[in-house]
Amino acid sequence: MSIKDKIVIFDTTLRDGEQSPGASMNMQEKYRLARNLIKLQVDVIEAGFPVASKGDFDCVKNIADNLTGVQIAGLARCNQKDIDAAWEALCNGDNPRIHVFLATSDIHMKHKLRMNREQVLTRAIESVRYASKYTSNIEFSAEDASRSDLDFVCQVFEAVIDAGATTLNFPDTTGYALPDEFGGKIRYLYEHISNIDKAILSVHCHNDLGLAVANSLAAIKNGARQVECTINGLGERAGNTAMEELVMALRTRADLVGVETSIVTEHIYPTSRLVSTITGIPVQPNKAIVGANAFAHESGIHQDGMLKERTTYEIMNPSDVGLSKGNLVLGKHSGRHALKDRIEVLGYTVTEEELNRVFDRFKALADVKKEMFDEDLEAILLDEVFRIPEAYELLTLGVMSGSRVMPTAGIRLKIDNKEVEKAAIGIGPIDATFRAIADLTGTKSKLLFFSVNSITGGTDAQGEVMVRVEDGGRVVIGQGADPDIITAAAKAYLNALNRLVYLNKELKKSSS
Ligand code: KIV
Ligand code: ZN
Repeated sequence: MSIKDKIVIFDTTLRDGEQSPGASMNMQEKYRLARNLIKLQVDVIEAGFPVASKGDFDCVKNIADNLTGVQIAGLARCNQKDIDAAWEALCNGDNPRIHVFLATSDIHMKHKLRMNREQVLTRAIESVRYASKYTSNIEFSAEDASRSDLDFVCQVFEAVIDAGATTLNFPDTTGYALPDEFGGKIRYLYEHISNIDKAILSVHCHNDLGLAVANSLAAIKNGARQVECTINGLGERAGNTAMEELVMALRTRADLVGVETSIVTEHIYPTSRLVSTITGIPVQPNKAIVGANAFAHESGIHQDGMLKERTTYEIMNPSDVGLSKGNLVLGKHSGRHALKDRIEVLGYTVTEEELNRVFDRFKALADVKKEMFDEDLEAILLDEVFRIPEAYELLTLGVMSGSRVMPTAGIRLKIDNKEVEKAAIGIGPIDATFRAIADLTGTKSKLLFFSVNSITGGTDAQGEVMVRVEDGGRVVIGQGADPDIITAAAKAYLNALNRLVYLNKELKKSSS
């Protein structure tokens, strides 16, 4: 397999993925996700759009300053201010990439940019030249390329390659293209750009018609050698090409496509879980590769076939994507070392202090729960390790409910190092608990979404609660896991309120 047959995986979960409604991530979360993406061995991480806000700038800088072994890209419009900001954030990174973009479609040029073709061409060339005073690793994206005049895109690409661009990205910004058509356009670019051998052709597909992965595959078959994608297919509107789907399609059907990626596929599932936890956007159960049902066989005929020979109904091995559902992991007699090993197998890295906290929770749960699965460990891990600083800490919760009693909750919290308590009644035990919490914290926030899931099977399974809460136009998510679902709900609600406090502090810091 030659270098020409390697597909560069450009992950934009932290940039386009964060543009999913309600998917904002804080600096610590972005850093953790970036570390996981490095484990996954993506080639490029697009860490953000530095000029967009001070928070975005700081996140990109934090990742570029501290992480190695991957190219870090920052997005910039075609102007000097954006490019300067991108470089300032990226400059300490390993082989940092400036990613400039400018629209080339008639619709965008006329209505959005109010520029003609000549002006766009000149601006693109000047911007790439300007970026090249900082680095030779420059990507140029022709926004809305799939709806642009192809000969004009060829003209722009040829000129920006001469100006120093080394990656040319052809986005299907509105998710409008169909696979044969999109593949044909990529082939056309290859055939009509005289200096295309000096650059890598990339694609960036949106999923408005559910075709982002199919379009990316068609592009690869026609010569694209970089694909921009996100974990769980997050991204603006209907999202972007889902990395896990693209990578597994390339791997499973290598016989037809004949290219490879450097992705360590065993880290796919943990990374998907991490993204879902951080963003609060659940993965739909029937989602390919990482959905809860992706490897579940329900029909008797299928189950019979599977028992006789797995490949009768399975085209991929679940363990290839890091899914170890049903794995009995460890018991209450397991030691710290075994726990750390298992955590690493699941794709996470923890500090000693974090390990201690996870270990204590694990032991406490193992005492009451008969069987401990990977999913239990993961829930604890995400709860403990991703816990943001707690302004409100849950100390105790007692609830009374049933068919003939008024649901009542008594809760004790630590707020500013002071213990406070409150009892409240409600329509149900969760309502009573949330009322007591709202009263103690004085929050004016609104609960937008509430869901409970069982992490594993069985009545002793942990419940995992996810909430989405809005305050003053800001939406945050909160999660909590516990064998007692009312406690899990209280943890999730407090987690969301703690995120609001944290976010307000960060915003104050960045505006001062
Ligand atoms: O969808 C798009 O066109 C983009 C560009 C900035 C690459 O996200
Ligand atoms: Zn996009």
